[in-house]
Amino acid sequence: MKLIGPFTQILSLAALPLKGAIADDALQIIPNGGVLTAGGLISAVGDFEELRKINGKAEIDEISGQQVLLPGFVDCHTHLCFAGDRSKDYAMRLAGKSYLEIAHSGGGIWDSVTQIRLTSKEILAGLLLQRVSRHASEGVTTIEIKSGYGLKVEEELKQLYAIKLAAAGSAIDLIPTCLAAHILPKDFSGLAADYLEHVLNDLLPAIKKENLAARADIFIEQGAFNPTNATDYLRAAKQMGFDVTVHADQFTRAGSEVAVSVGAVSADHLEASGQKEIKRLAASETVAVALPGASLGLGIGFAPARKLLNAGACLAIASDWNPGSAPMGDLLMQASVLSVYEKLTTAEVFAGLTYRAAKALNLHDRGSLEKGKLADFQAYLCNDYRQILYYQGKLKPARVWKKGSQLNH
Ligand code: NIG
Ligand code: FE
Repeated sequence: MKLIGPFTQILSLAALPLKGAIADDALQIIPNGGVLTAGGLISAVGDFEELRKINGKAEIDEISGQQVLLPGFVDCHTHLCFAGDRSKDYAMRLAGKSYLEIAHSGGGIWDSVTQIRLTSKEILAGLLLQRVSRHASEGVTTIEIKSGYGLKVEEELKQLYAIKLAAAGSAIDLIPTCLAAHILPKDFSGLAADYLEHVLNDLLPAIKKENLAARADIFIEQGAFNPTNATDYLRAAKQMGFDVTVHADQFTRAGSEVAVSVGAVSADHLEASGQKEIKRLAASETVAVALPGASLGLGIGFAPARKLLNAGACLAIASDWNPGSAPMGDLLMQASVLSVYEKLTTAEVFAGLTYRAAKALNLHDRGSLEKGKLADFQAYLCNDYRQILYYQGKLKPARVWKKGSQLNH
């Protein structure tokens, strides 16, 4: 048993709603707080001195100075398993080139596919671990990671094995997702529906057998997959036992409607969602995931986060960290920027980075500081939780704990 504290404030994020708007005065703020942990879980959260009195035998991890404690962040959407970079694409975008012009000059998602195919599983795992450890040092204690740059059976499997290898070498929980349905691979001879059929028949069973992922994703967009084919694919994947999620409404509307109709755990992007899509998402159990890093990387507007919350949706915020549209990967900075443009309360931002993001991954054991949850948390050198968003991502956690153990970085 270990008692950690005293913290100037503990922001527990306990007892907040799963869906809809949240005012800051709904936040539970524990002054002079302590957290008692045992076996990687939280046994109690409360007044530090009181916890010390009741638990005389607990080892004490004494915190000096002013620090604010928050749950670890959950990044519920990344493409962290990649090789190389796409700075050439980015420079072309800055010079005003269109998506199509970039793709025609050898850029775009296919460029990352080429790079992945040239890279071994071990090298990929090494690259992945460097990014995971940077994310962990910035307070992210659970990271979803998609495949989707292999785009053929053995290459998609290689990506998922690389994620598994990295997970074995990291304290951070890495949650793999199969995104073989990212785009129709250039070297597949057949229609989009044939490719999806091939993934269902030849890839997903192998993933299941090897226990490489329990989630499947698809990119619904012009130039990627259409809603009809995607619906069939997602229904079949669900039948096989996969949780499903969708890259939805990024440039054009359609994906979020499919996500809701198939009961996806989340619909991510939503930059192009309108009133109809917002209403449907809000009435559903599908988490709406905003990806401000992709808006910043592409120079497009943000997902309508305020409207989604006002309509009653569950809003999570994720980094989308990938080499093409979101190379920065700084989740807290991106969430801070989204909040000032979209007018999100501090409570809504932290909910979106923690327990609401955990819901998008169907994880119910983390995201708030309360008895029985994972002892995943992070401490910031400040005396008021509001300073964290105020510094727009430049104030980083001084200490991060995963399952009760402090990470060294
Ligand atoms: O989430 N939208 C599709 N896929 C990724 C981009 C991946 C890439 O460009 O490599 C995204 O933004
Ligand atoms: Fe993405």
